[in-house]
Amino acid sequence: MKVLITGGAGFIGSHLAEACLNQSNEVYIIDDLSTGSIRNIEHLKSQKHFHYVIDSILNRPLTAELIDAADLIFHLAAAVGVRLIIESPVRTIETNIKGTELVLDLASKKKKRVVITSTSEVYGKSSNEMFSENDDLILGPTHKARWSYAASKLVDEFLALAYYREKQVPVIIVRLFNTVGPRQTGRYGMVIPRFVGQAITEEPITVYGDGQQTRTFLHVKDAVSAMTEIVKNQEAWGEIFNIGVDNDISVLSLAEMVKENLNSNSEIVFIPYEQAYEEGFEDMRRRKPDISKIQKHISFYPQFSLQDVIADVAEDQRGAGF
Ligand SMILES: NC(=O)c1ccc[n+]([C@@H]2O[C@H](COP(=O)([O-])OP(=O)(O)OC[C@H]3O[C@@H](n4cnc5c(N)ncnc54)[C@H](O)[C@@H]3O)[C@@H](O)[C@H]2O)c1
Repeated sequence: MKVLITGGAGFIGSHLAEACLNQSNEVYIIDDLSTGSIRNIEHLKSQKHFHYVIDSILNRPLTAELIDAADLIFHLAAAVGVRLIIESPVRTIETNIKGTELVLDLASKKKKRVVITSTSEVYGKSSNEMFSENDDLILGPTHKARWSYAASKLVDEFLALAYYREKQVPVIIVRLFNTVGPRQTGRYGMVIPRFVGQAITEEPITVYGDGQQTRTFLHVKDAVSAMTEIVKNQEAWGEIFNIGVDNDISVLSLAEMVKENLNSNSEIVFIPYEQAYEEGFEDMRRRKPDISKIQKHISFYPQFSLQDVIADVAEDQRGAGF
């Protein structure tokens, strides 16, 4: 099968490319390297069934050609990361909405199958214990830039479902919760690579806010296997799935775990959100997925622990390469 991965030189995209190659697919990726890196795919370049194009998905003729040749499209290209979203809101909105619209429009010509990667951010300020796919979604006001990411991904979801219903484009929407592992960059505010980097270099580990906010962390390999499995289930098309783990940890406990697991002498310091991001920054106290829906469709039991994640990220940052 020919698989196209947009954003394939990114963190998740590069692992997905590997998984698709391991499952004997012909893999094509397109990436403009805005947050991705050629290093992420260096080890794949020599493989006969791997093809890459460095360009933007907004290059319509090129993307049209790639989609035309593909049997399945994983659409991951997006402006990602809280800091980037606050610093470049125009780019976030444009890339995420125009890019997805273009992919769906081109896929609709020959009814190509498309997986859209959405995010747990769409659950916004919900105070539910666990987030389920059919929950109401509560976002913050439009003058707070951080919500533009969630809103743009929500428009992507509406668009995808509209193309599914009106133009019979087979789509699956996956709402990824924090996905972590080797090759993720800490530059855009991602917590685990940042903590691990700080612990390795014995710099202070910077916890934003009071550290009592809780999160879940799924190893990228588990996320990728859920994505490659879900497309094999006919009943999954037209549906939305959470992908994550359902055991959570506070950000402060995470900092302590990173410090301990890496035998680091770093001190743990607290930075107010206003200083880390912007005045009036809103964060969620907890964010945990209900994964019962995906578990009804595929056998999805994450294999990697948080200790595995920390060890893999540390190995990657120390230059082992993955
Ligand atoms: N990592 C997470 O925890 C997480 C959580 C929820 C959702 N997601 C979603 O998963 C997808 C992949 O995220 P990631 O964490 O791998 O981030 P990433 O930044 O590593 O990947 C995004 C990739 O898209 C590329 N890209 C951006 N704009 C592009 C354009 N116009 N044309 C071509 N390529 C472009 C970037 O260069 C990058 O390689 C994104 O859609 C993101 O919203 C990720």
